[in-house]
Formats: sequence, C-alpha cells, structure tokens
Amino acid sequence: MKEISIYIHIPFCIRKCYYCDFTSFSNLNEKIPLYMNSLKTELELYREKLLAYSIKTIFIGGGTPSAIEGRYIYDLLVHLYKNFNLSKDMEITIEVNPGTIDKEKAKIYKEAGINRVSIGVQTFNNRLLKSIGRIHEVEQIYESYKLLRKEKIENINMDLIFGLPNQTLEDVLFSIEEAIRLGVEHISHYSLILEEGTQFYNLNKKGKLNLPDEDEERLMYHKATEYLVEKGYSHYEISNYALPGFECRHNLVYWDLLPYLGIGLGSHSYMENKRFFNTSNILDYIEKLGSKLLPIEGEEIINKSTEIEEYCILGLRKIKGIDKNEFKKRFNVEIEDIYGDVINKHIKNGLIIDDGRSIMLTKKGLDLSNLVEVDFLK
Ligand SMILES: C[S@@+](CC[C@H](N)C(=O)[O-])C[C@H]1O[C@@H](n2cnc3c(N)ncnc32)[C@H](O)[C@@H]1O
Ligand code: SF4
Repeated sequence: MKEISIYIHIPFCIRKCYYCDFTSFSNLNEKIPLYMNSLKTELELYREKLLAYSIKTIFIGGGTPSAIEGRYIYDLLVHLYKNFNLSKDMEITIEVNPGTIDKEKAKIYKEAGINRVSIGVQTFNNRLLKSIGRIHEVEQIYESYKLLRKEKIENINMDLIFGLPNQTLEDVLFSIEEAIRLGVEHISHYSLILEEGTQFYNLNKKGKLNLPDEDEERLMYHKATEYLVEKGYSHYEISNYALPGFECRHNLVYWDLLPYLGIGLGSHSYMENKRFFNTSNILDYIEKLGSKLLPIEGEEIINKSTEIEEYCILGLRKIKGIDKNEFKKRFNVEIEDIYGDVINKHIKNGLIIDDGRSIMLTKKGLDLSNLVEVDFLK
C-alpha cells in the first residue's frame, strides 16, 4: 500500500512571539472546541482518499499544540487510529512550548502514541528569551525536558534560533552546548528570518534591531555545525542535525517530495500531483467544515517538469543531496540530461559537488543556496 504523512495544525498560542508569522492566535481560546471538531470533520472528508494509503508519520504542529488540553490531542489521534490504515513504526511528533506542558500532558501524549516531541527552546539565555517575546524562562525548558523523559519520550528535538538581536556567537554556542548536554536526539537550528508583519520586521524597518551582520550570522551557522558534528550529530539538512537513526522522518517526506496531507488552518498538502492549501481564516475554516465542505483555498497541478524542479530544489536542502539513481528511477531520465549545464556551472563556481553518485551543495553552496535554486527553475 502507498504511504502518506499527515500534518495537523493547532493554531493557538499563549502569546505571539516577536519574530513569528506562523498561523496562530493568542485571543481565540473560545474557538478551541469547535476547531478541534472541525479537524475531525476534515479528516472524515478525506476518508475515501486516505484509505488508499497507510499513514507513516503524523506531525502535530502549530501554533502551540501544548497550549490546549491534552485530551483534545488524545481524541484526535484515537480518531485517526480507529479510522485509517497505519504503517508499522509510525513516527508521531508534537510541538510543545516550555511553560505549557506538565506531567499530565506528557502522560496523555505518551498514551496517545506520541513518540517524538519537538520543544521550542529558541535559546538558553533568559535575557534573549525575554527580548524575543517568549512566555518562558530557561528553567522551564529543563523542567519540560525532564518530565518528557520521565514519561519515556525517547526522541526529543529542540528548536533553536541564531542571528537574534543582540545575540553573540558565544550565546549561540552555549545554547547548542546545553541541548547536547541534556542529550537531545535532534536539533533544528534556524537562522532568524524577519517575516513581514511581525514585530521584529517593523522594528527592523525603523532601524531598531541590533542584528548580527551577514558574516557574523554565517560564522554562527558554521561554528554551530562544526560543534554539532564533532559531538556526533549528523548534519542532514540545511537546518537540521540528528544522532544516528533520529533524522525526522516526517520532514524527510517534504524534502523527498513524497505525499502528505495537511489538516487544519492554513495547512499545505502535496498528493496525487497536486499542491493545495487551506484557508487561514479560522471563521471560514470552521464554517466550511460545519457545512461538510473542504476548506481549500488554492490548488496547483504539479506537472512533470514542476515536479522535477521541486524535487531538485528540495533535494539540495539535504546535505547528502540528490541521489542520481533515485532521480533516474523516479523520472526515467538522467539528471544531467536536464540540468547538465546548471550542474557544471555551479561545480565550476564551487557551489555544487558531483561525487558520481549524488549532486550536493558545498559549504559555500549552503550559504548561497538561493543562487543555486533559481537555476533549477526551468
Ligand atoms: C511552528 S514554530 C512552533 C513551535 C512552538 N510553538 C514554539 O514556539 O515553541 C516552529 C519553530 O519555527 C522556528 N521559527 C518560527 N519563526 C521563525 C523565524 N521568523 N525565524 C526563524 N525561525 C523561526 C522556531 O524555532 C519555532 O520553534
Ligand atoms: S514561535 Fe511558537 S509560540 Fe511563538 S508565536 Fe510562533 S508558534 Fe506561537
């Protein structure tokens, strides 16, 4: 049976962080029950389609899934287990924020079959946590981690951000060191993006953010990578590092351009040669599902040539790059027949390596990946 991954969006947060433009609200808690019901209805509407697949990973993301009562997550997962085909050894991830998780929630997640938890840490520095609008302090990171381990969650990720205002290289390395010292299996290390509409974006426009310059930011990235690799974490995607065997299987589905269905507000899907996405308006979302209609707002048919472009651009995000045999198997043509000139150009300017088996970005290519990506668009 074909396999598929499911993403489920929980758009509620206690407070909006200054850098974040994910679809989430801090003032709509009264909508939680209706929203959670709508998620089940949405799944029902996909029932026929989904029954052709078995589910291999589930990712409950946000927003802050841990900001709502644990029973909602439990109910939703039980609903999925009862009604759909499940692969063996499913990876089931939930995103949690320090300060929103307690013993009961950790327990109920475990009972619900969740076997991977991603903690939004961002930094192990109280001054910085405060300055980016986080609701928690460092102490709560340690507490959350401890209680998840107590409930035998054996696969934990920490999200960290570098390039924050007033953050030094020492701050960045200290956060990485703390995550490693705790023994997490996976680290996502994101470069701060100034997203339009966020508080940080507006402050920056007024010249009021003291950001590291580009060289400093790149130094943070490469030093952090060196340190993580030295400590046994494999750098397997631009922003992701894992102990052996703990690469995030759900995210690999995105980078390998395999099918996934996104449920919930603003979620994106890729299946059956289509990309489509849901409305980001919570009232529309609830109303549509109340009338048993899918809340899809946009759709794009992915033809062969777009599929090839996307496969290459996403594939280059992986450090091991694009496997030439896999490419041939999927598209029935050699990658060089389509991109020979592009590959040669970037081998010459030092952004790409071809080791005979795979095409991958060099260290310099990782810094300039945008330049390479545009050339893979035909
Ligand atoms: C969907 S968010 C949710 C995680 C969870 N709500 C939390 O904040 O702890 C996933 C991650 O994206 C990262 N992120 C969000 N906005 C970002 C930005 N503007 N630049 C870089 N990373 C960002 C953060 O590390 C965050 O933990
Ligand atoms: S980073 Fe996480 S907690 Fe902060 S606003 Fe975004 S989704 Fe919510």
